[in-house]
Amino acid sequence: MSKNGCSNKAEINFLKVKKTNGQYIIQLLKEHFKKDSIIDHKYKVSYEDNFIFFPLVENKDNIEKLKKKIHSFIKYEIISRQPINKANYKYKSLQEALTGKIPENYFSIIPKSYDIIGNIAILEFEKPSQIGDYEFSEYRTLIADAVIGVNKNVQSVFEKKSEIKGDYRLREFAHLSGENKSETTHRENGCQFNLDIKKTYYTPRLIYERRRISNLQIQDNEIIVDMFAGVGPFSIQIAKVNHVKIHAFDVNPHAYNYLQENIEINKLKEEVLPYNINIRELLHPSNQIGKQLYGTVDRVIMNLPEQSIYFIDVTCFLMKKSGGILHFYQISEKPNPIEKTIKDLDKKLNDYNWVIAEIENSKIVKSYSPKAELVGIDLGIKPLNS
Ligand SMILES: C[S@@+](CC[C@H](N)C(=O)[O-])C[C@H]1O[C@@H](n2cnc3c(N)ncnc32)[C@H](O)[C@@H]1O
Repeated sequence: MSKNGCSNKAEINFLKVKKTNGQYIIQLLKEHFKKDSIIDHKYKVSYEDNFIFFPLVENKDNIEKLKKKIHSFIKYEIISRQPINKANYKYKSLQEALTGKIPENYFSIIPKSYDIIGNIAILEFEKPSQIGDYEFSEYRTLIADAVIGVNKNVQSVFEKKSEIKGDYRLREFAHLSGENKSETTHRENGCQFNLDIKKTYYTPRLIYERRRISNLQIQDNEIIVDMFAGVGPFSIQIAKVNHVKIHAFDVNPHAYNYLQENIEINKLKEEVLPYNINIRELLHPSNQIGKQLYGTVDRVIMNLPEQSIYFIDVTCFLMKKSGGILHFYQISEKPNPIEKTIKDLDKKLNDYNWVIAEIENSKIVKSYSPKAELVGIDLGIKPLNS
């Protein structure tokens, strides 16, 4: 028993009948009960001596109905005993998997949603004040076990332990259940990404945004720069469905290694060129890639939402002097986060004698915090006097 009197191996009701009556009972259950309303399929039907034991769903009305339906000449008993879990049973919800394991008045700590990256689930918890540290730690592990029970592809569960921080935009994680392995392969929009959640940034929450950008009208042979490429989700998805050349940069050596791997496994070695450098280095007069790309780029993706604005000078340096398209992401505070983002952009571009030619699209990509949103703007930009 746990401290709250909540047993992990609670007894449940079984219908006990002679083996010779097993077929009769199965037929009766099929005729009179909806699927899953009377037999608890997560537990094994067991056989002992001449008897068969059917595990029953905890539902008083249905058990009463069962008693009435069983013919008077059939001998039966409803008995209480410990069930045996089916090894391959997958629960339909976290609540179902946790019933009898954590007290229902603590179900509020079960996360309402969580990210799945490859075969890794990432949970986030808020500790209610009435739960002690010991219980909270026990329940977190039980919830993580249940996440594996509910999702057939999840083999590891980690808990967020910090905000995203540092130049590489990484988070700390604690292992909660399953394999303690932070490397995985994630599939998104027909592409495959190897990554390590502890060493590289990745969010599955941009899946629709990356599909949207990949499916824009991108001209053949465009030269594109993905300034903050990570393990390559924007670059690789765009290159998969367009005939373009993408220069993909990331300062994090681990992200760069996975980016190289991902270019290879998605068969895009001709289309996506990876670089492990700080994008700002391109401005240095001796930088070869900077010299090569100066004033040649048709399209730039800036997905470093807390800091993209500080790299607008690099964008102006790279972009064609006849103008080009910028996909710009920024975290902006409410109210009016889209207007704020456009104002910030306009001001920064003016600092470098560039202007907004046209706003093609502006949207809130996702909520970032109670006070701020992740804003995405697609815009045409050009030099002031062009
Ligand atoms: C928010 S993540 C985005 C990654 C990727 N675009 C995605 O959607 O998953 C930003 C990435 O920019 C990289 N980064 C940060 N500052 C950089 C810089 N000055 N030059 C190049 N890469 C940088 C980080 O290492 C990180 O991988």
